[in-house]
Amino acid sequence: MTNSESITDSVLDIEKIRKDFPILQTKVYGKPLIYLDNAATTQKPQAVLDALHNYYTQYNSNVHRGVHFLSQQATEAYEVARRKVAGYINARHEHEIIFTKGTTSSINLVAASFGKKFLKAGDEVLISAMEHHSNIVPWQLICEEKGAILKVIPINERGELKMERFDELLTDKVKIVAVTYVSNSLGTVNPVHEIIQKAHAVNIPVLIDGAQAIQHIPIDIQELDADFLTFSGHKLYGPTGVGILYGKEKWLNEMPPYEGGGDMIKNVTFAKTTYNELPFKFEAGTPNISGGIALGAAIDYIQHIGIPAIQQAEEEVVAYAYDRLAALPSLRFIGDAKHRSGAISFLVGDIHPFDLGEILDKQSIAVRTGHHCTQPVMDFFHIPGTVRASFAFYNTKAEVDALMDGIEKAKRMLE
Ligand SMILES: Cc1ncc(COP(=O)(O)O)c(C=O)c1O
Repeated sequence: MTNSESITDSVLDIEKIRKDFPILQTKVYGKPLIYLDNAATTQKPQAVLDALHNYYTQYNSNVHRGVHFLSQQATEAYEVARRKVAGYINARHEHEIIFTKGTTSSINLVAASFGKKFLKAGDEVLISAMEHHSNIVPWQLICEEKGAILKVIPINERGELKMERFDELLTDKVKIVAVTYVSNSLGTVNPVHEIIQKAHAVNIPVLIDGAQAIQHIPIDIQELDADFLTFSGHKLYGPTGVGILYGKEKWLNEMPPYEGGGDMIKNVTFAKTTYNELPFKFEAGTPNISGGIALGAAIDYIQHIGIPAIQQAEEEVVAYAYDRLAALPSLRFIGDAKHRSGAISFLVGDIHPFDLGEILDKQSIAVRTGHHCTQPVMDFFHIPGTVRASFAFYNTKAEVDALMDGIEKAKRMLE
């Protein structure tokens, strides 16, 4: 009997759910794929693949500009998808949902546009030490341009934010706080409600990078009250190349356009151009139409299963993985926060993470190794990188057992 068989399985019928994901039926090196790289990107259910296929085979056409039948159909489907995204996070207005290429472009949009209007020399932008590079570099670019200063909330050895330092750093020089909800390299779930409440108490807006939260934790944006929320379609079982910026209407109205071009204008003359209303003001050019529509299909799929059930199933499999990994004497967790979600980072003895990753790969187990686009986190722990196993609701305890067998095998080979 494997360890997993002794434990009650999930709230979900995972074997049935796995059949919805064609790639999970495939083999790597002749063995069934064990996909534990969900923080990098999630696999896509058939419903999402069908949405992409249907768009290109039945109504491929550009949106917002055509009177013809196909264009109207595409526009309708694209705008329905926007409505689905708005519903998924309970946004007050559909026009607060801006389609982008992904989290990275959403954050770049806010940094450039908000920064252009609201940052000046000596102002501060407050981020955290566990941010993904995409929530660091865009702020560095605008700070450099404006002579503003990037300040960083430090973390402790468990990979948790030092909230007492946050309180001290939250001065009237800060013009925006930008933090991740869930760390992609440490798995830490940050106290974003507290951060938002404290920042709002002194009238400072907050951007939440939701890239690693949106697929694991129910988000009601009106209740959370973040001023901006960013996420990527591909981490939410949707396609690559599409993502979301949620922004409160009042900020989006005050911010200048980011990119110029078609769709974002009301009227163009060489003397003066006026800009379109929200959300189109921030959506220059032909968007990723099929991507947006398929993201809507992903949201339908997830809502059909239910995010609370997904969260519960994932918590079970992550807790199981954590316990089994913790029982390995030479294993060291990188990030051991009290509140965690999705990803577990670790090192085993003196084994280099790349070597462990390669040996696992040969056993058809896909994990990620390296710095996970969080080099400052690696510097903090004085390590070159980690092995990261990251989970979705379609992962099983049997897959965790296979991971453990794989690690044991690597230990035998390398230690
Ligand atoms: C926390 C976090 N922020 C931002 C990103 C960037 O997302 P994307 O590459 O989809 O733009 C990622 C991707 O791994 C992430 O995990």
